[in-house]
Amino acid sequence: MASTKSSSKTAKPAKNGKPAASKPVKHPKVSNQQLWIGGKSVRSVSGKTFSTINPTTGDVICQVAEGDKADIDLAVKAARQAFESGPWSRMNPSERGRLLNKLADAIEANKTELAMLESLDNGKPIVDSLNADIPLTVKCYRYYAGWADKNQGKTLPVDGPYFAYTRHEPIGVVGQIIPWNFPLLMQAWKWGPALACGNTLVLKPAEQTPLTALRVAELAAEVGFPPGVINVVPGYGPTAGAALSGHMDVDKIAFTGETSTGKLVMTAAAQSNLKRVSLELGGKSPNIVFADANLDAAVEGAYFGLFFNQGQCCVAGSRLFVEEKVYDEFVAKITEKAKKRRLGDPFEMTTEQGPQVSQEQMERVLGYIEAGNSDGAKMLTGGKRLGDKGYFVEPTVFADVHDHMKIAQEEIFGPVMSILKFKDLDEVLARGNKTCYGLAAAVWTQDVQKAHRMAHALRAGTVWVNCYDVFDARAPFGGFKMSGIGRELGEYALQMYTEVKTVTMAM
Ligand code: NAI
Ligand code: MG
Repeated sequence: MASTKSSSKTAKPAKNGKPAASKPVKHPKVSNQQLWIGGKSVRSVSGKTFSTINPTTGDVICQVAEGDKADIDLAVKAARQAFESGPWSRMNPSERGRLLNKLADAIEANKTELAMLESLDNGKPIVDSLNADIPLTVKCYRYYAGWADKNQGKTLPVDGPYFAYTRHEPIGVVGQIIPWNFPLLMQAWKWGPALACGNTLVLKPAEQTPLTALRVAELAAEVGFPPGVINVVPGYGPTAGAALSGHMDVDKIAFTGETSTGKLVMTAAAQSNLKRVSLELGGKSPNIVFADANLDAAVEGAYFGLFFNQGQCCVAGSRLFVEEKVYDEFVAKITEKAKKRRLGDPFEMTTEQGPQVSQEQMERVLGYIEAGNSDGAKMLTGGKRLGDKGYFVEPTVFADVHDHMKIAQEEIFGPVMSILKFKDLDEVLARGNKTCYGLAAAVWTQDVQKAHRMAHALRAGTVWVNCYDVFDARAPFGGFKMSGIGRELGEYALQMYTEVKTVTMAM
C-alpha cells in the first residue's frame, strides 16, 4: 500500500536462495501488553493471556492479555460513559481535531519504535514500516483532524412555516475489528474518521499483531484523549470479535478482513441491535496489461502490486491479465524480477520481503501453490517455503493460469502471482469482472480512450491506471460486490461515523 515508490527500488539485487538474516532481530521494548480500557492498562477478567509470535523466527515475543466477552462489556461501558458524559461529550469539535493532530505528532515522534514493533509483530520489512505504514498512518490522522470541525449539516428549504435543518451527530459507541496485514494503518483508517466525528470506540486488533494498537492507545492517552474514548481489547475473533459485533450497546461495527468473517460480523449485527455495519473485505483484483502499455512500467507496477507486503494486501493484483502480443516478453521480465526479490530478516534495510504473518498463513499460501501446480498452471519460479525457521515463502510466479483454476478464483494473500493471457478488450473486461469481488483493478495502456473505457466498466471500488497501490487519505476506498459495504478514507468515511438528524421547528 503506499506511494508506489517502494523499497524495492532502493534495495540491492538479491540472491533468492536463503534468508538474508545475518543480524539478530531487534526487539523494541513492549510497554503495553494488557487491555486498554477506560484510559488504563488492565488485566483480562479471566486472567488469560496469549502469545504473540515473531514470524521471522517463530519465537514468542511476549504474552498479551486475552480479552473476551467480559472485557468487551467493560470496554463498551467505558466507551458509553465517555460518549454520554465526561469531557469528550462536551468537547468542541476543533479540540477533537487538535487532539487528532497531537496523536499524529506523537506517532511521528515515536516512529522508529512503532515501525520496529510493527515489523517485529507482523514480519514486514522495516523499510516498508518506515516508508509506507508510518507516513500513511500519520497523514490519515492529520487528514481527519482537519475534518473534525467541518462535518456540518444543512438548512433545508421545506414547504410551510417551518425552519428545518440537519445536524451531523456521532453514531455513539463504535466497535472496530481490524486484520494483521497493516495493523497501524488499519487502526488509523478506523480511528481517524470515528474520532473526528465525535464517536467513542472499542478496537479489537488482530490476534497476530496486537502490539502497535496498544502502544498507540497509550500515546493517545498521553496527548490528552480522555479516558474511555479509546479502548483496545486484544483477543480472538470468535470470542472478543464476536462479542463486539453482537453487543447490544455498540451502535456501529466496522470490520476489515476476510469476506466470510465479514458475513459473520454482519449477521451478529443484524441479530443483536441492528448496529450500523461497514465492511472492507477480500478481493481478487484484475491487473490488466495491454500491449500498448509502457511495458517496463507495467512490469514494475504488477510486481509491486502483487508482492508488496509479502502479498498480504486485500488489493493485491492477483489476477494479472497480459495481452497475447506482449505476453511472453512480459512473463520473462517479471519472472526475472521475482527471482531477484530479496527475502530475509525484516530488520535488514535491504530486505524486500519478510515472512508471512503466521504459520497458518504460510501453510495456506503453500496450499494454494500446490493447487496451482495440480491445476496445471506453469510455475516459473519459487514454490517453496524458504528455510525452516520463520514463515518465509519464495516469491512464486505462475504463467498459463486459466480463469477456472483455484489460484485465479480465491484470495491467496501471499507472494503468488498468477498470469493469464487475453486477446482483446471486451474479452478481458468480461473476465476481469467475472468474480464475486470488486475491490480494486488496474489498467496499463497508453491509449486514453481505452483507459477511460476500462476505468468506467470495471466493477471495482478503486481503479488504477498506469499505477498500482496508490493510496491517499483523501481518496475513498472500499469494495463493490462481496468486497464490502461503505467507503473508508476521504470525505465518504465521515458518513460511516455520522447519524443525520433532521430538526424541524414551527415558525
Ligand atoms: P479474519 O477475517 O478471520 O480476521 C480479521 C479480523 O477479524 C481479526 O481481528 C480476527 O480476530 C477477527 N475475527 C475473526 N473471526 C471473527 C468473528 N467470528 N467475529 C468477529 N471478528 C472475527 O482473517 P484471517 O483469519 O486472519 O485471515 C484469513 C484470510 O482472510 C487471509 O488469508 C486473507 O485471504 C483474508 N484477509 C483479508 C484481509 C483484507 O484486508 N481484506 C485482511 C486479513 C485477512
Ligand atoms: Mg479467520
